[in-house]
Amino acid sequence: MTAIKLPKDSKMLSPKFTFGVATASFQIEGGVEDRLPCIWDTFCATDGKIADNSDGKTACDHYNLWQQDIDLIESLSVDAYRLSISWPRVITLDGQLNPKGVKFYTDLLDGLNAKGIKTFVTLYHWDLPQHLEDQGGWLNRDTAYKYAEYVDLITQALGNRVHSYATFNEPFCSAFLGYEIGVHAPGVVGKEFGRKAAHHILLAHGLGMKVLQKNSPDSLNGIVLNFTPCYPSTDSDADKLAADYADQYINQWYIKPLFDASYPKMIDELDENCKPEILDGDMNIIAQPLDFLGVNYYTRLTYSAPSQAGEFYTELEHLYPRTDIGWEIYPKALTELLVSLNTQYKLPPVYIAENGAAMPDKMEDGVINDLDRIDYYHKHLNAVNDAIEQGVDIQGYFAWSLMDNFEWAEGYLKRFGLVRVNYVTQQRTIKNSGHAYKALISQR
Ligand code: NOJ
Repeated sequence: MTAIKLPKDSKMLSPKFTFGVATASFQIEGGVEDRLPCIWDTFCATDGKIADNSDGKTACDHYNLWQQDIDLIESLSVDAYRLSISWPRVITLDGQLNPKGVKFYTDLLDGLNAKGIKTFVTLYHWDLPQHLEDQGGWLNRDTAYKYAEYVDLITQALGNRVHSYATFNEPFCSAFLGYEIGVHAPGVVGKEFGRKAAHHILLAHGLGMKVLQKNSPDSLNGIVLNFTPCYPSTDSDADKLAADYADQYINQWYIKPLFDASYPKMIDELDENCKPEILDGDMNIIAQPLDFLGVNYYTRLTYSAPSQAGEFYTELEHLYPRTDIGWEIYPKALTELLVSLNTQYKLPPVYIAENGAAMPDKMEDGVINDLDRIDYYHKHLNAVNDAIEQGVDIQGYFAWSLMDNFEWAEGYLKRFGLVRVNYVTQQRTIKNSGHAYKALISQR
């Protein structure tokens, strides 16, 4: 596949559909000297946590190169850019706005708006200020209230520069990867912690939505969740039950509270010490009305019945074909996910806030002919189109990512960009996937 194609009559080719590219602060900015430390700085400094022992000190140096990056975004002909605000860059130790940090984002947003690029701003993409982690981080209920104060200050400072706010990016990753299996910052391990962190993040989301309703009623306000659809490895009842438990634990846990004001039913089966402490009124705070739901999708997983007592499921290795990060390429699950969420919940308009692939790119004569990534985008965009045809209201799609960047525990080894970044020279080169994405968008 050398091009990304959609059916001629696809609703995604109407001018109302938003095409964008996405990034996140810690993954691209660098510029650490001008902000407080965050949990990812600490995690990167801990031996053995990041595959290539790298860190976010320079990353793509976007902190200094942001003007040329705006030109790059414009050159891809996208309608929108999804970025995140670094909380430790804009709020000081004593809880005040940091003018220098705020100016970085107001300049950036002004630059994007001047070019007519819609701004989709995520308020939390994993870079919790380290001093809050030192007080317990997301295991401390108070962090949810600190988050609401941060949202109150930063949204007032950004004024009307923002088209859309997301309170959080992928609460599953912060809670489960960060506080249950410890492969992400802050690296806490223990079944008893994950649900507690998740509850405080969801509470923070609800408190943040209330602030947004007050400070920014005209923007499109919502949240971005990741989904890894769970399939049974065989047709047996035991494997189907295992897949259902996995779905409740990793997916439904984060969406059901938003729409039904309750956790999935398996909460009753968890050990007492693994249950979150839910205070009166919490679930109603969490279930604020949303203007949009962001859905991030990369892959699916398969499950079989648990092999050990006390477990709910066994997660199997990814099937093939796989991307360079080892995730199965399975576009059909994206359609099935969207259609099934749409039947389970009364969804607001949906935006695919992230979708994309790490591939083993090669640069030859200055060209990155990443046909595998083009094929991935082609298939997944068509999977989105199929969901729209089956009645799901999907209004936008963001490619992950604008450019190669710091891929968390994988460091700089895995490249997700439509644009290649040379980390020595900071040179950006548009890959053929970037050209193909642009061609698709420009054909409208
Ligand atoms: C989800 C995250 O939001 C993003 O930060 C990450 O780089 C991509 N997935 C790829 O893993």
